[in-house]
Amino acid sequence: MFEKNLLAGKRILVTGGATGLGKSMGKRFLELGASLYICGRREEVLAEACDELRKSTGGTVKTFSCDVRNNQRVNTMIDAIWQDGPLDGLVNNAAGNFLCRTEELSIGAFEAVIGIVLMGTIHCTMACGKQWIKEKHKASVLSITTTYAHWGSPYVVPSSVAKAGVLNMTRSLAVEWGKYGIRFNAIAPGPVPTEGAFSRLMPVKSLEEIAKKKNPLGRFGTHEELADLAAFVLSDRSGYVNGEQIVMDGGEQLKGASEFAHMGDMLTEEQWQMMKPKKKE
Ligand code: HXC
Ligand code: NAP
Repeated sequence: MFEKNLLAGKRILVTGGATGLGKSMGKRFLELGASLYICGRREEVLAEACDELRKSTGGTVKTFSCDVRNNQRVNTMIDAIWQDGPLDGLVNNAAGNFLCRTEELSIGAFEAVIGIVLMGTIHCTMACGKQWIKEKHKASVLSITTTYAHWGSPYVVPSSVAKAGVLNMTRSLAVEWGKYGIRFNAIAPGPVPTEGAFSRLMPVKSLEEIAKKKNPLGRFGTHEELADLAAFVLSDRSGYVNGEQIVMDGGEQLKGASEFAHMGDMLTEEQWQMMKPKKKE
């Protein structure tokens, strides 16, 4: 889909880049010529992903064991990355989430998810942003949100409020740091199968069929679809896109908001015919 050198010379950090969507985005960036940095909490998972990504793309990958909730650890990681030179792209992708009735959540549960999703994003963005501004280095920040960052969602309230904060940060800094040549955008995917998300959010197989059915396209998104969109958003080819949240959900949220969306499944052929104007005699 893209020129092979779309991201040549770009140095990109993907948080939570050793699994799921983060790994798929990283693979695409490498295929398009970028050098990749990934971080996560589990060293063995990072090492395995690094090996796989290097073998499949031949690209340069470095890993950092770093809990993004810890600002000191994030600063240390960013300083270490800067030893190679400035980053050109940051993908705030690391996340935590689970389904739970809100009245049963402990404050610790809120802190865990908000700490990863919102504070983790703020830690990484601030650490990079200060360097970029100081060095007058242009950059692109992409945060992976969700459709409910805008609308809210029951049963995932810690994630929902945290993603809303990330979306707000994206829009706020797009304006404030635009003058430094730092662009901020978000991608809000609908469901895309990953072990991390589906094991926590779709614990029963039948839920997957229901989720597909409520989507206008009748399917989940794919890793390739997200990775290509992310590559475009990070690249200079999207240079005038700033402060945007691009929804990639097959039209799912619009279907949920559409007054008559369910009619197609509800009305019989006979009822559709009944509503047509009667032929004049
Ligand atoms: C209620 C829970 C819980 C659950 C943990 N907690 N799991 N509460 N229901 N299922 C509570 C614990 O009791 C504890 O509370 C606090 O949360 C912290 O739990 P820990 O296990 O100590 O946390 P930690 O080891 O740091 O793990 C963080 C985590 C875990 C978020 C809980 O799930 C994780 O590591 N997730 C990372 C990967 C992930 O979630 N990926 C999915 C992203 S999907 P106390 O009170 O004891 O402190 C996504 C997509 C959404 O975001 C959109 C889909 C369409
Ligand atoms: P995933 O594989 O579970 O990815 C989450 C990643 O975050 C893991 O690699 C995890 O690694 C890392 N992480 C978690 N806590 C961290 C911490 N404190 N510090 C550093 N890294 C941490 O799930 P995914 O589905 O690919 O999700 C990726 C992104 O897409 C998330 O932002 C998610 O909200 C978003 N999203 C996913 C879907 C979907 O359907 N899959 C839909 C909408 C949005 P460690 O556990 O090793 O730290």
